[in-house]
Amino acid sequence: MTESALVVTGSLNMDFVVQVDRLPSPGETVLGSGFQMIPGGKGANQACAAGKLAAHVAVRMIGRAGADPFAGHLRSSLAQAGVEVSAVRDSPNLPTGVALIWVERSGQNSIVVASGANLELSSDDIDSARLAFTGARYALFQLESPLPTVEHALAVAHAAGARTILDPAPARLLPPSLLSQVDILTPNESEACILLGRNPTGVTFQDARQIAAALHALGPREVVLKLGSQGCYYSGPGLTLGVEGFPVEAIDTTAAGDTFNAALAVALSEDLPLHEALRFANAAAAISVTRLGAQASAPSRAEVDAFLALRA
Ligand code: RIB
Repeated sequence: MTESALVVTGSLNMDFVVQVDRLPSPGETVLGSGFQMIPGGKGANQACAAGKLAAHVAVRMIGRAGADPFAGHLRSSLAQAGVEVSAVRDSPNLPTGVALIWVERSGQNSIVVASGANLELSSDDIDSARLAFTGARYALFQLESPLPTVEHALAVAHAAGARTILDPAPARLLPPSLLSQVDILTPNESEACILLGRNPTGVTFQDARQIAAALHALGPREVVLKLGSQGCYYSGPGLTLGVEGFPVEAIDTTAAGDTFNAALAVALSEDLPLHEALRFANAAAAISVTRLGAQASAPSRAEVDAFLALRA
């Protein structure tokens, strides 16, 4: 099989992770345990997971890292996963992005990001990295980079012939000029509600059709609603599809959505049929929540293949 490319444009953060019995309320101090620094950032998580999962796809990352030791750790984590990092530029006057993460026993978390160098990712950076899109069939985006840069990168990806996948996280209202350049939009339940200007509520397969229809009206041709342990719901031209998730014991849901997007992009790049690609993405995300941390939790291709073989 000819090797195609998958380009990830986005953030790199060092995650400072503390486990807690329960998340603190405003004004409250709780005692935590098990502090760890783990490579993260939504963009880098997607690139790392894609690198671990790809059999026939070259994964390339475009981003910014600061002038501190975290930058080297984050580049190494990606390189070890097989990701090409030459388009991750240095920001000499800014710190690398960091995220403070509390993870409670149930697996739920709270995350605060200090973006640092990620905010310096510019349209010029994307133009300088244009060659990275050569041979790309898919390009992944999230929202921890400046919106004008994301919008420009979407256009550059399209001009190079890639299909674009946007993970609208952290969620915010987005301009039509950006959303109209998205081929596949992949919100979770709360992100879908925020994009639609609604109060975040629980979304089930029953609500999914109506929510997906409202999201299509914003521009994206295809929508994949990520429904956590329930699985996912696909809506595209002439087709809707609900694909059930896999029951697992969740330890930490951090980066489950990133792993899902990476796996979906890898599977589509390798021409898996849509239903299989969505099942592959559900499986990769399910494995990731059984482990602590962002990039540390992303499974290898062999692990996902074995997981699916047991559930065939
Ligand atoms: O999606 C999980 C990621 O969100 C974490 O790794 C953290 O860095 C924040 O970007």
